[in-house]
Amino acid sequence: MINIPKGTKDVLPSDSRKWQYAEDKLRKVAALYNAREIRTPTFEHTELFVRSIGDETDVVSKEMYTFEDKGGRSITLRPEGTAPVARSYVENALESMSLPLKTYYIISAFRYERPQAGRLREFHQFGSEIYGASSPYLDLDCITFAYDALRALGLKGIKLKLNSIGCANCRKKYTEALRAYFAERLDEMCPTCRERYGRNALRLLDCKVPRCKEIAAGAPVILDYLCDDCRAHHEKLCSLLDCSGIPYEVDGGIVRGLDYYTRTVFEFVTEELGAQGTVLGGGRYDDLVESIGGKPTGCVGFAMGMERAIMLMEKQGVDFGKDGVDVFVISQSPDLVGTCMEIVSDLRHAGISADTEMTGRSMKAQFKYADKQNAAYVVVIGGSETESGQVKVKRLSDGKEVECGINGIAACVKENIQWQNL
Ligand code: HAM
Repeated sequence: MINIPKGTKDVLPSDSRKWQYAEDKLRKVAALYNAREIRTPTFEHTELFVRSIGDETDVVSKEMYTFEDKGGRSITLRPEGTAPVARSYVENALESMSLPLKTYYIISAFRYERPQAGRLREFHQFGSEIYGASSPYLDLDCITFAYDALRALGLKGIKLKLNSIGCANCRKKYTEALRAYFAERLDEMCPTCRERYGRNALRLLDCKVPRCKEIAAGAPVILDYLCDDCRAHHEKLCSLLDCSGIPYEVDGGIVRGLDYYTRTVFEFVTEELGAQGTVLGGGRYDDLVESIGGKPTGCVGFAMGMERAIMLMEKQGVDFGKDGVDVFVISQSPDLVGTCMEIVSDLRHAGISADTEMTGRSMKAQFKYADKQNAAYVVVIGGSETESGQVKVKRLSDGKEVECGINGIAACVKENIQWQNL
């Protein structure tokens, strides 16, 4: 037997409903926010991620699925959606559309991480990227979109943590302060941190090694180093959030693990998923478009981890509904299978989902199967039905039967469905 690769998961027929339920809700919220779907390829040139996410980040330096294709190009399976969407924005000159441009996506993403509950090597994200968005009102719109997306999934008890990591100017001063702080503690830190110290001291803040984490917890916080403009942006966003009623907490420890962020960064976290408690992360990235060849463009976005969101929905008892078939046609004898298939075909063409027995099982076994398929109605077809042209449609939820013509099953079921929905 060939097994599934480590860190990946099949979505089985018994579970796919949960994904469809979640995706459907999320697409509806996206439409409410006037966001349009964007689809980009599963793989990109490696250089895109190196330049945008940054080569000192864990994602780029340790976790990317990178390979050389047959043409000798370095290709990487996308570890996230922001950089590919930005590449597409620049390449397709989307700035010529009216801005702000609001996009959303539902994608698979790939990171070579140590798998555990809520952490996979292939995972999925629902995300949004907004272009032409320098105003803090768009930070608010983006955060509200994320918040409403979580609420549409029925999730509760998720906390919003907000921070600002300033612009390149604030970060110069901050990096000096960080270097001074870490310099005295560097010999206690891991080899990766020692290497990163000289090149990108900010990344020492996301090291997962316990001792490094302890040291990082006492480091200076960037909020104390913001320039006047970044501070004003942050304060305006806080005042807008206060009015919006979305509960939040400013947390100087949120720095995000990707280099492209500027100013606003945020995470929605839960305590119900253990170590993988960040369900959604995002922020502003005003320098990214320019760094990959476009014009300076204010941008803000977020991505939600679909596996984490669905795990939490399961934990919180969200009702995903049930898959089922409207009508199951039971055949009293094997020579009636052809007739049953014709009935089923007519029902399907009339917009009623239907199925019938094709394997020659007993009536009892067919009833059992119909029940397992969550059939709403069954119709038994035997010699007397085909002779008289009259059938009984039985509703399985309460056993109620309605008699109708063999060609009138669709209308009868539709009436009953309508009646049931009242
Ligand atoms: P991220 O924080 O790296 O941000 O990922 C966003 C979310 O994806 C996480 O909060 C988590 O729920 C989920 N996630 C990440 N890695 C894994 C994994 N290995 N297994 C399962 N779920 C995972 C980004 O990706 C940014 N592109 C978000 C963004 C969009 N910022 C601006 N626009």
